[in-house]
This record gives sequence, structure tokens and C-alpha cells, in this order.
Amino acid sequence: FSVPAPPNEPVKSYAPGTPERDALKKQLSSMARQTIEIPLIIDGKEIKTGDTADSVCPHDHKTVLAKYHKAGEKEIQMAIESSMKAHKAWSRMEWHDRIAVFLKAADLLSSTEWRYILNAATMLGQSKNVFQAEIDSAAELADFFRFNAYYAMKIYEDQPLHSPPGMWNRMEYRPLEGFIFAVAPFNFTSICGNLPTSPALMGNVALLKPASSSVYSAYWIMKLLEAAGLPEGVINFIPGSGSIVGKIVMDSPDFGGIHFTGSTPTFQSMWKTAANNLSKYKSYPRIVGETGGKDFIFAHASADLKALGTALIRGAFEYQGQKCSAASRAYIPKSIWNSLKEFMIDELKTVRMGDVQDFSNFMNAVIDKNAFDSITSYIEYAKNSNEAEILFGGNYDDSIGYFIEPTVVLTTNPKFKTMEEEIFGPVLTLYVYDDDKYEETLHLCDETSPYSLTGAIFAQDRKAIELADQILTNAAGNFYINDKPTGAVVGQQPFGGARASGTNDKAGSYLNLLRWVSARTIKENF
Ligand code: SER
Repeated sequence: FSVPAPPNEPVKSYAPGTPERDALKKQLSSMARQTIEIPLIIDGKEIKTGDTADSVCPHDHKTVLAKYHKAGEKEIQMAIESSMKAHKAWSRMEWHDRIAVFLKAADLLSSTEWRYILNAATMLGQSKNVFQAEIDSAAELADFFRFNAYYAMKIYEDQPLHSPPGMWNRMEYRPLEGFIFAVAPFNFTSICGNLPTSPALMGNVALLKPASSSVYSAYWIMKLLEAAGLPEGVINFIPGSGSIVGKIVMDSPDFGGIHFTGSTPTFQSMWKTAANNLSKYKSYPRIVGETGGKDFIFAHASADLKALGTALIRGAFEYQGQKCSAASRAYIPKSIWNSLKEFMIDELKTVRMGDVQDFSNFMNAVIDKNAFDSITSYIEYAKNSNEAEILFGGNYDDSIGYFIEPTVVLTTNPKFKTMEEEIFGPVLTLYVYDDDKYEETLHLCDETSPYSLTGAIFAQDRKAIELADQILTNAAGNFYINDKPTGAVVGQQPFGGARASGTNDKAGSYLNLLRWVSARTIKENF
């Protein structure tokens, strides 16, 4: 049998007068008024350790949304035991039955209050505006569930083997023998949901360790999965210190792999830990990670100015530039620079920044004090350099929330620090090149950063597009022609990058799911 590809989850508008706007506003004010307690969830049971930390609103850091309990050694060991116990039944369950759980979770996101719970949690806890939250927490998470289920069905149905007369050859896709350690970032609720569930869909069990700044929405993902009928222990929830959790989990002989999204240094250190522990493990662990980016927009003189200017602003400043895919460096030909500058400054003057509960704010706060300090240090560096000037923004204030203006840096040095290093905040650096150095500057773009996640070329001239496509082949795992480098849609643009940006196992695709199975080939003679 064969199944049609699912449609993408329709994105709601939340325009004034719509029922979804009222529902979300109610959810937001109710969640913002309470401080809940978030336990660990191990084997379906709520566990409180007494060692707690606060989840706050980044745009209003006096508001405490939750006190969450942190896992200690005892609870981490319990979580591992519970996972391996759950592994027995879950790994043998018919794949149809496993898939049903995630299809139900997608359905709950489409048509019940779960949509507003996840959106409100993301908006308040991660300071994300309504549109970005709608895409990320409800729509993209539902897409991950449905498309992963679709690709899993294809994988399980597919028997690409030849069977000559007298025999039958087949291949079975077994789950891995160990558990998967899912380490989630703060910036996308959908990714936090995808990291443990894509291995689980293929019959694996997972331990979920969310980033400390997004424990709040991660907890609601766990509750959603519980409501969808996920059996106890299949995904255990263990927020806590990354180094404590990581050490204990990766010391276990049952460690089967990592599904990671986060920083390059953390991923590299986990990879080294896995290498050092290899002799303890039953199998070579699967190590799948999406890490940093220093994503570019490259403009040719034939670019559509308005499309380019809009992509620069949206690509660099949506979600305060805290997407691994965010445009953070751009190359602009001299011939269009003055007109582009005028367009961008006019547009940037209209950008509003503030609380997420005011839906007209395009930008909100950056995630926490560490991020605020790190991003603003780059802004100060640019302010104090004689190789750069601040073209727009550059101010910041953390008295109420961690607010940083959308900041555009103009540099005369194409290898300036803010052209090379990942900042993970609302800072875009521009370099203006001589039009006759198009090809040379494309090479420069390729060589400037160790990352290779996303990038975009803006040009109307087909030859210019072809040249960029050739020279930048390895500079981005997701390459956009005349579009911003953010906002990949599941089932449309599988997402991921190589070089220092990760293992490029494309989230939301069959390539990712295949990492979570260990194939067994069976030959039977008749
Ligand atoms: N998938 C996101 C984007 O494309 C990043 O994780 O922006």
C-alpha cells in the first residue's frame, strides 16, 4: 500500500477579530499570571528533586513562569533504567501503532487548545512573537510529526532488493539497541519536539534534556505527548546541568546515540566523550547534530532591491537573529548600495520591539543575560573598531527584559570579527564590494567562516546565479536563490548543514530517520 504525502499544517493568522487570537490571548494571560512547578518526568511519573531553577520571561525577567526541578545523578540513572525497560515493548511494537501516537499529537496541535498552550509557552518562555511562535511551535511541530510518520511508512514499506528465483531477500529496519540522548536548543520548540520523537518513531527510546532557557515549553511538549498516548518511559524528561546530565548519560553502556541541536563547541566535546567511551558501548553510537551557522546573503548587481532588503531584515532580525539559519553577514555590490541602504534604514525605523503580548511587536528580547552580554560585546567591538561603523541600531537595555536593537554593522574588512563569528543575536554585518569583483568575493564568502548551514544569493541574472551556485556549493546545506536563508519548511526544504554546522542529516526527512535504525538483511532460500 502507499500513502500520499501530508499537507503542511496551515498557519493561522491571529488577525484582529479571529477566534484564534482570542484563544491565544486568553492562554497568554493565564500562563503569564501563574508560576508553575515543573517536575522531571521519568517512567511517566513526576519526580521532584528539590534542586530548582527559575524559568523567566526574557522580555520581562521579573516574571517567573515556572520553578523547574533539575536532575541529579540518581534521577539520571533512574531515567536510563526506565528507558531501557520501555525499550523492550516499544521497539517491538508494530510501526503503525508507534506512528499513530505522533499522528495523534499532530492532530491535537491542529485542532485543540494544545496549539495555544504550546504557542503561549514559546512566546512567554522564549520571547518569540506570535507569528514566529505559530510557525515554530504548533505548525512546524505538527509537520515534523506528520512528515516523519510519512517517511517512516515509506522506509518500512520500501524493499529495494532484488530476489532472483529460489530466494527471497529482504531488509528489516531495527531500532538501535541503546537509548538516544536528545539535547535540545532554546530557539525552536519544534526542534525540541523533533529531537526525541524522530528516533522514537523508529522504535527507539530517548532521554530529553532541554536547554535551561526553554524547559517551560519542553515540559508542555511532554504533556502533549502524554495526551497523545506515548507510553511511559519512551521519552524521559531530565532538565538539568548539561555537563552533569551529559557525563552520566554518555557513560552508560546503553548509550546508543545523540540527537543534538546547539553550539558547535558542545557538540564537538560530546563527540570526543563518545570517542573516549567507545569501548563501553555495545555499538558505535549514532551522532547526529545540527550546530552553528554564520549564514550569508550575497547580492549581485542584478538583484531585486526590495526583495533583497526585505530578506536582509527578515533573515537577520526575525526572532532577534537567534536562529542558527539567521542571515548575519551580507555582501553587497557598490552599484546598488546607496539605494539599498536607504530602503533598509526606512524599513528598520518601522520595526517595533517589546513584549510578546503586544502582537504588533516584530522583535522581542534575546533569551537571557549570557546571550545579552555576549551579543552586546560584539556590538561594542564594532563600535570601537576603525574597520566598522554602526549603520543602524547599536543600543540595548536589560533593565526590564533583554532588549537589543536590530543592529547593522558596515565593515571595510570582509574578514572582520562580526563577519566571521557566530553572534546568535540581532547583528547583521555588511561588506560592500566592487561590482567587478563578483567572482572573487564569492570565493571570499566561501572561505570566511568555518560554518556551512544556510546562505542565499540574490540576482536576476541567471549566469550570476549559476556562478554563485558553483562557488558556494559547499558553503551552505540550505541554499536559497532570491529568498532569505531562514524558515525552511518541513517536507519542502529539508534542513541541515555540513562543515562546522553539523552532520547534515536533514531534520524532517527520511535521511534523518535512517540514522535511527540498524538495518538487518535477511536472505531466505526456498
Ligand atoms: N529550520 C529553521 C530555519 O530554517 C532553523 O532551525 O530557519
